[in-house]
Amino acid sequence: MSKTPKHFLDINELPLSELKSMLAASSAMKAKQKAHQPVKPLEGKTLAMIFERPSTRTRVSFDVAMRQLGGEPIMLTGAEMQLGRGETIADTARVLSRYVDAIMIRILNHEALLELAANATVPVINGLTRRSHPCQVMADLLTYEEHRGPIEGRTVAWTGDDNNVLASWAHAAERFKFNLNVATPPELAPKKVMRDFIKATGAPIVLGTDPEAAVKDADCVITDTWVSMGDKEGEHRHNVLKPYQVNSKLMSLAKPDALFMHCLPAHRGEEVTDEVIDGPQSVVFDEAENRLHAQKGILAWCFDAVK
Ligand code: CP
Ligand code: NVA
Repeated sequence: MSKTPKHFLDINELPLSELKSMLAASSAMKAKQKAHQPVKPLEGKTLAMIFERPSTRTRVSFDVAMRQLGGEPIMLTGAEMQLGRGETIADTARVLSRYVDAIMIRILNHEALLELAANATVPVINGLTRRSHPCQVMADLLTYEEHRGPIEGRTVAWTGDDNNVLASWAHAAERFKFNLNVATPPELAPKKVMRDFIKATGAPIVLGTDPEAAVKDADCVITDTWVSMGDKEGEHRHNVLKPYQVNSKLMSLAKPDALFMHCLPAHRGEEVTDEVIDGPQSVVFDEAENRLHAQKGILAWCFDAVK
């Protein structure tokens, strides 16, 4: 029997040692690339990338990561595939597994991701669902640790709504053992699945509604768009989220050397002001760059090519 493929679906599903080895591989490959000594462990490998939703960073960073590692990406959109005409996700997984060596998918329906993984005989990578965005948070961990050293024991603050990026930060807090203070409006608070996760794992995560309390003395402040893909736009949503904006006043409550992070795309003037995102504490473009390097660590792990 062929061995079980190494899927990268969620951070909390993998042992800390493997997550750390992915980050170490990302750093090593980043250093090699910067020194013009690229490594090519994925020669002859092909990655199918399926996007059911728009993307700039995930699409380009996976594409470039595959090429730089010696492999080939194939870009697909759900609408252009028979998936868009009703072919099942399970049959799509079975067919693609006969052609390619791994599949990366961005699809809002998390159950569809799980079904793809259950039926694929090659690794499947979660490129964002409504529930989580683990590739993003691997890049964020890499970025935090490059700037400030190990994240273990530090305090990270999230202010905004409950969304996929927050879920992956919560998974990371449990694995990497850092404190995560969350402030959301009561009506956009983390759902039962997150509360159950905290209860079951004892993860150091505090859920609240006060952005000032969450950010106080934090080592890192994070926010994200107020309207994620699949969310309904609306004035009410913006109104309840206004007090959660990261501006200079809120940022001043964090530690003086706190970092500001945002996965991008940002909606300037909404969840974050220009002075914060363009200010000295912001590392948002390092995060964006690190999508490329983090993706390489994830791909190398999926292909058993982490040295
Ligand atoms: N941060 C992120 O995933 O960006 P894209 O939607 O552009 O891929
Ligand atoms: N929470 C955002 C992240 C975008 C990268 C969304 O799901 O749209």
